[in-house]
Amino acid sequence: MPQQLRVLHVASEAVPFVKTGGLADVVAALPKALPKHKVEARIVIPGYSAALRKAEELGGLEWLPGDLTIEAGGVDHRIGVGAITVEGVTYYLLACNELFAREGLYGPAASVDYDDNARRFAVFSKAALALPHYVGWIPHVVHAHDWQAGLIPVLLQRGFQHDLPATRSVFTIHNIAYQGAFWHWDLRLTGLDWSLYNPLQLEQHERLNCLKAGIVFADRVTTVSKRYAEEIQTAEFGYGLDGAIREHQYKLTGITNGIDVDEWDPGKDPHLPANYTAAKLAGKQTCKQALRKELNLTTEGNPALVGVVSRLVWQKGIDLLIEAVSPYILAGRMQLAVLGTGDPDLEHRLRQLQGKHPGYVCFWHGYNEGLAHRIEAGSDIFAMPSRFEPCGLNQMYSLRYGTLPIVRHTGGLADTVSDVVSGAGNGFTFGPMDLGHFSSVLDRALGLYAEFPAEWTKAVKRAMKGDNSWNHVAAEYADLYRKISMI
Ligand code: ADP
Ligand code: GLC
Repeated sequence: MPQQLRVLHVASEAVPFVKTGGLADVVAALPKALPKHKVEARIVIPGYSAALRKAEELGGLEWLPGDLTIEAGGVDHRIGVGAITVEGVTYYLLACNELFAREGLYGPAASVDYDDNARRFAVFSKAALALPHYVGWIPHVVHAHDWQAGLIPVLLQRGFQHDLPATRSVFTIHNIAYQGAFWHWDLRLTGLDWSLYNPLQLEQHERLNCLKAGIVFADRVTTVSKRYAEEIQTAEFGYGLDGAIREHQYKLTGITNGIDVDEWDPGKDPHLPANYTAAKLAGKQTCKQALRKELNLTTEGNPALVGVVSRLVWQKGIDLLIEAVSPYILAGRMQLAVLGTGDPDLEHRLRQLQGKHPGYVCFWHGYNEGLAHRIEAGSDIFAMPSRFEPCGLNQMYSLRYGTLPIVRHTGGLADTVSDVVSGAGNGFTFGPMDLGHFSSVLDRALGLYAEFPAEWTKAVKRAMKGDNSWNHVAAEYADLYRKISMI
């Protein structure tokens, strides 16, 4: 009988408290799925203003007695530790007025960073490592996510907490494009020795690089799909860190994320006007008609409805979509519903597209959980032409909702979507990132939808029957934890 393991997840966001992207979903869902595999996981995140408000809504935090004081570059920060249990998982929120009592997570707006982020996340990382003794729960493994927790492995190994001698580290890269690169003097905030500041360890192009710190010092590195684990070893996808990844490839594993199949279940989703299953698909049409009404899209004819729910950033290839769709809309073959927020230029271009095609394009600017569910359910096709995609969750939500995804063959998209041309696929894929290839896959998808409804329905059912749940994914993580832990 395997022994129960304890794992502390350290991340900068987690649902239900704060979320800017898929990281928050993954950080919450994995710990929920681990107990089945004899792993007790807890989560620690910063106590941002929005997170503290959410905790109030959920019944309030239990504030632990005393303060945790963390020093960084000669300044002491007093950290309040609040605990709360949600769906059986214990979360710790680390409150600190001068660092986290702000509205943004990483900056005042989506594309602007706070200028003290090095301090904010260095203090957060140190506090997360001081937490186990403070609360009397010593983990076998600390599982750190993305650059905001990238200093954890090096702090653990080189100095900050000498009193966690048997704790091992796993570091997960959710997106290698975000690295947390700072002025070299910020190393003072960590208390680490200057001898570590060299190109083989913490330095990258004369800056302190938090993601690299995680890669170099963790006992194991994972990333969120098998394909992305290969891709980040190349110059095209490695964002300058491909050398470091190749160097540490021996300890790298790709584990493709799962999705929360309770939260995303068309059979019982409370956000939808009608529920449906692969065996009883009628409700999906009701969802489509209701969505068109909700978004002021014309309900005449039956053009395919193409949905997008996305951060609006270069990574996601929305520019290509904007460039490609007009001829298909003018031909009455498709409508487009986009939900998202991000880059002001992309937002402007989406508004223009909406203005050009009234009744055929709706751009809903902002963040809207319920609408995200209704777009997944009410669309026929989901578009994700990402330039790169470490994993991607929306294509998996789409599959479960019988909404066939069009994706670029990259990262987690390639691991989860296969083209219907094979006769057994669940979506549409394209390779080179250019207008010609994207237009031709869109044309092919719209053609199948309009002319071969029986084939379409078969593909929809295949998509819905796939299994992307967390269960087997959590088993892979549990194995990894067990391999490196000292029991
Ligand atoms: P990334 O983490 O790169 O943004 P993912 O596909 O992994 O991409 O995860 C995105 C998550 O954020 C999904 O759960 C998606 O539904 C959600 N999301 C993104 N933008 C919005 C939005 N504007 N409104 C609601 N949910 C959104
Ligand atoms: C990142 C990636 C996305 C992935 C998510 C969760 O935000 O961009 O592809 O799904 O992390 O791992």
